[in-house]
Amino acid sequence: MPTMGALHDGHISLVNRSIAENDLTIVSIFVNPTQFNEAADYSNYPRTEKIDQELLLQVNPNVLFMPSAEEMYQNNEELLKINLNGLDSVMEGKFREGHFAGVVTVVDKFFSIIRPNRAYFGLKDFQQLAIIKYMASKRYPEMEIVPCPIIRDHDGLALSSRNQRLNAHDRSVSVLLSKALFNLHNNWGVMPFDKALAESKAVLSDSSIELVYLEVVDAQTLEIQHEYSTSQVVACLAARVGKVRLIDNILLPNV
Ligand code: PAJ
Repeated sequence: MPTMGALHDGHISLVNRSIAENDLTIVSIFVNPTQFNEAADYSNYPRTEKIDQELLLQVNPNVLFMPSAEEMYQNNEELLKINLNGLDSVMEGKFREGHFAGVVTVVDKFFSIIRPNRAYFGLKDFQQLAIIKYMASKRYPEMEIVPCPIIRDHDGLALSSRNQRLNAHDRSVSVLLSKALFNLHNNWGVMPFDKALAESKAVLSDSSIELVYLEVVDAQTLEIQHEYSTSQVVACLAARVGKVRLIDNILLPNV
């Protein structure tokens, strides 16, 4: 179960699920330098190692793996060369150059060191999950990638290590992200496609929110949809709330 630390109930839900389903659970905490495309985002990423260790002691996985960057990369930050079949060309891939190359590189390192039977990932990072599933199907065909539901705060905000960086005002405004997605879910199939999207975007009109994208994509191929389709689709958004960039998504009902 790979993480970058600053653990919250979203991470803990994955750890608990793994402990319930397996004999041996390994949790890693590693803030992976190669997946950050902004130096400031890497240096500002919350690091709360002591608290993380205490939290983990309460759920008690078998192993906590906390390597250093030197140990993981041995001064060689060469990225894994793998064609991701276009899964990395939309959404986060478009706005965060090189991000997924860094993610698959580090996850591949963990997989090759640990060789787990199962690996647990959150649906919170829907595109990351799709990419890791694809990478694992090519490189570790025996491995099972287990998707886990998004854990949300009481008001609907998806838990994220980055939420800690929101000031009080921005934290209260950030509830609009999940509101916009729930609004889209409610309107899905009920009104024309474009109108449903426009209404959802209107929920985000607040001066502290800068919408980066709101896309409806095919849940398997991540192809951007422009009209209703019969395949399973998911709405994904990224937005800056104040200084903090947040992502969220929701599976939409079949129409
Ligand atoms: P990180 O953001 O720490 O997330 C670790 C795992 O926890 C990911 O699988 C993520 O999807 C899951 N997670 C985060 N918030 C969640 C929530 N609210 N509900 C459910 N699951 C949640 O994702 C990464 O780290 C990194 O990219 C990593 C895969 C570790 C590679 O460096």
